[in-house]
Amino acid sequence: MGLDLIVRRAVTPKRAEPHDIAVKDGRIVEVAPTIEAAAAQEIDADGRLVTPPFVDAHFHMDATLSLGLPRFNQSGTLLEGIALWGELKPQLTQEAVADRALKYCDLAVAQGIGAIRTHVDVCDDRLLAVEALLQVREQVRPHLDLQLVAFPQDGFHRSANAPANLKRALDMGVDVVGGIPHFERTMADGAASVRALCEIAADRGLPVDMHCDETDDPMSRHIETLAAETIRLGLQGRVAGSHLTSMHSMDNYYVSKLIPLIAEARVSAIANPLINITIQGRHDTYPKRRGMTRVPELAAAGVTVAFGQDCVMDPWYSLGTGDMLDVAHMAVHVAQMTGRDAMRTCFDAVTYSPAQILGLEGYGLEPGCRADFVLLQARDPIEAIRTRATRLAVIRRGRVVAETPARVTNLALDGRPATFDPAG
Ligand code: FE2
Repeated sequence: MGLDLIVRRAVTPKRAEPHDIAVKDGRIVEVAPTIEAAAAQEIDADGRLVTPPFVDAHFHMDATLSLGLPRFNQSGTLLEGIALWGELKPQLTQEAVADRALKYCDLAVAQGIGAIRTHVDVCDDRLLAVEALLQVREQVRPHLDLQLVAFPQDGFHRSANAPANLKRALDMGVDVVGGIPHFERTMADGAASVRALCEIAADRGLPVDMHCDETDDPMSRHIETLAAETIRLGLQGRVAGSHLTSMHSMDNYYVSKLIPLIAEARVSAIANPLINITIQGRHDTYPKRRGMTRVPELAAAGVTVAFGQDCVMDPWYSLGTGDMLDVAHMAVHVAQMTGRDAMRTCFDAVTYSPAQILGLEGYGLEPGCRADFVLLQARDPIEAIRTRATRLAVIRRGRVVAETPARVTNLALDGRPATFDPAG
């Protein structure tokens, strides 16, 4: 039948027994224990894990790789990061933003990321970051799906031109309506911004993804308004709340009412473990709060929970490697999700769950799905998280787009094996 590619003896997140995966014309056409056919290219997985691509549900591609420009964030706080970004914005050029974004996309593909939802600041009247990322979105489309969120970083009501700029950005082709209600001047302004932004999304038939309650203030309850507006406007399944860190500090009784509301509204939750653990709790002495939202409780209530990278080498975070396994690894620790099923939930939160939030067509490893997947140097998702497994091969539409040699150490120890494989 003239197959393009067969991956032999692969385990997958949903299949513990080795299977063959056959690909033709960019789609998976068969998954079976043994496929008796030849293909133009064969890859022997040898019992290793093949996963659908990693998906980053929350990122800031207009700021990435700008570390040190125009200076470093000395306090490491969210507010100094926002101030620093404000200093950098006037100096940005469309070319520099696009160059950095493209460089990050190279890294993302090498790390097996197949799709990224990135927020883009619309509070600069020039909208040059929007222009740059729209250009990058088209340029990388063959190997990476980008979804852009119109993000009023300085506040939808607090920044005078934000409403007009946000609508201009959507007119230009930005995919998702963003927001930042906790950064408005008052709680009332925050709630009003949620209402206004959800109405814009409803009018235009667009999804919503708001930075929501990224604070340790337990009284920051914009997620409640977001869920209520989602129901009022019939936006169920199209809305995500990013960060939701105030939920960490909320009163348990209030949360017992809030989580069912979020579930009823089918609002998704996106936590950013690397950033939440470093940014939150900054006003605490000891004990210091972790600050990440209530991931296991939201997941148990049936809320789709995904993890995002948020920042890599930018005004808010000096580190980051574009590795969604690093993100999942941090989540396991911060949320204390160390049970076997819980760790698998964390793996899903960087693969299947964000794919669902982004609405990716043909995502998965079933016949008919797009032939997008990653061969890892690991035997199962838990080992992948534990070792932040090497991406041996990244496949997009049936074509190998990135390869990295296996991580194997040569040892010279008397009486011990000559090599050491971190995946055992
Ligand atoms: Fe963010």
